Amino acid sequence: MSESNMDSGKKTRRDFLNYIFSVGLFGWLGSVLYPLYSFVSSSKLKIDDISYINLGVNNEMEINSSKLFKINKKPAILIKTKDGELKALSAVCTHLQCTVQFNKEENALRCPCHFGKYDLSGKNVSGPPPNPLTQYEVFVKNDIILVRK
Ligand code: FES
Repeated sequence: MSESNMDSGKKTRRDFLNYIFSVGLFGWLGSVLYPLYSFVSSSKLKIDDISYINLGVNNEMEINSSKLFKINKKPAILIKTKDGELKALSAVCTHLQCTVQFNKEENALRCPCHFGKYDLSGKNVSGPPPNPLTQYEVFVKNDIILVRK
């Protein structure tokens, strides 16, 4: 065997060992960094889960409809207007705390107890309610309706 063949044989073995070392290093880095990344990203999701209420898929909610939900253990209402706009409001009437309901025909919120009326922005427009309804921030992310607590 000539000397140049031996050098190329050593280089091949050296390259092979470098390759194995590199693969091992990247594998080790992946096994350390991926769980770390997963932990950090799941922690972020938990924070989001605490801050927002998931109210389902936007495309599955009909136009001119409503959905009752709870926010901080109190009734709230999500409304999808005729224009497809989403509104989230407290459903607790500001008169004597009855639960208000969406009235499609009037395009308004009505309290069944004393017939108080609110517009879709929550403003008290007729009847005994003394104050407007509390509004909540609502937005759509990846077609999921989210309301900030
Ligand atoms: S409780 Fe709603 S109008 Fe009286």
